[in-house]
Amino acid sequence: ALLYYLDGEILEEEPKVSAQDRGYNFGDGVYEVIRSYRGKLFALEDHVERLFRSASYIDLKLPYSPDEMSKLITDFYNKSGNPEAAVYLQITRGAAVRNHTYERGMKPVVFMYSKPLDDKPLSYYEGGFKAITVHDGRWDMCQAKTICLLYNILAKQKAKDAGCDEAIFVRDNGEVTECGSSNLFIIKDGILKTHPADNRILSGITRKYVIEVARKNGVHFRNEIFYKEDLFTADEVFMTGTLSEISPFVEIDGKTVGNGKPGEITLKLLHSFYEMVR
Ligand code: PDD
Repeated sequence: ALLYYLDGEILEEEPKVSAQDRGYNFGDGVYEVIRSYRGKLFALEDHVERLFRSASYIDLKLPYSPDEMSKLITDFYNKSGNPEAAVYLQITRGAAVRNHTYERGMKPVVFMYSKPLDDKPLSYYEGGFKAITVHDGRWDMCQAKTICLLYNILAKQKAKDAGCDEAIFVRDNGEVTECGSSNLFIIKDGILKTHPADNRILSGITRKYVIEVARKNGVHFRNEIFYKEDLFTADEVFMTGTLSEISPFVEIDGKTVGNGKPGEITLKLLHSFYEMVR
């Protein structure tokens, strides 16, 4: 079942926060989504490290050390008893009468929930997914995992309304950055590419492990910018994320990707990653 955590308390009922919480009024906070497999949180240290990086980008001092944070998350997750779970963790700057500027002494509000997930069989991913491209007009701090997700949710809703699974962000210059809630990879002539981890994308934890898996499998890899037209000449395209794992695209903007089926290298990476985490 769903289990909640708010500021030191574990609850079975959904907790309530102040209507003056800056997360509510300004989207002033950071978050993480951590997946568990078979009763163990995957890549917890990576997530905690990124959480601290995100917090520092928005000038938010977290009320715990990284070790304390890891322990807090693990203890909470263990109490939830969900072997396959998504743990959502959000830390907002705190509550105060609405004012754009903030006091540095505010008490951050820590919120978590653990949600049971259905473990997806490999066949789920092997079916392939559809995407549309969407203009990427986001700000220049996409490396910070903040709860200001309006641009992402509108893009993903547009994809859903078009009968697709994801939105692929394309900047004014044609550069492909990432997806609404996943990173994007392409393969052309045996070379795997993804956008460099700069301020234009969120540096995904899954992205990092997929790059490792590619290296282990002898797949040539480059951190390299590619463009919208490359999506349509690529042999294979896939996205990665904590919840999307490795999801191959077989159709983008109504056009077939590769031969219309998840590609050979993508499947190799998918199988290898699937084995590693389970
Ligand atoms: N999203 N890019 C964006 C914009 C994301 O929101 C996410 C994750 C990723 C992939 O990061 P990771 O591999 O660390 O999950 C890339 C989470 C899952 C979410 O918002 O639900």
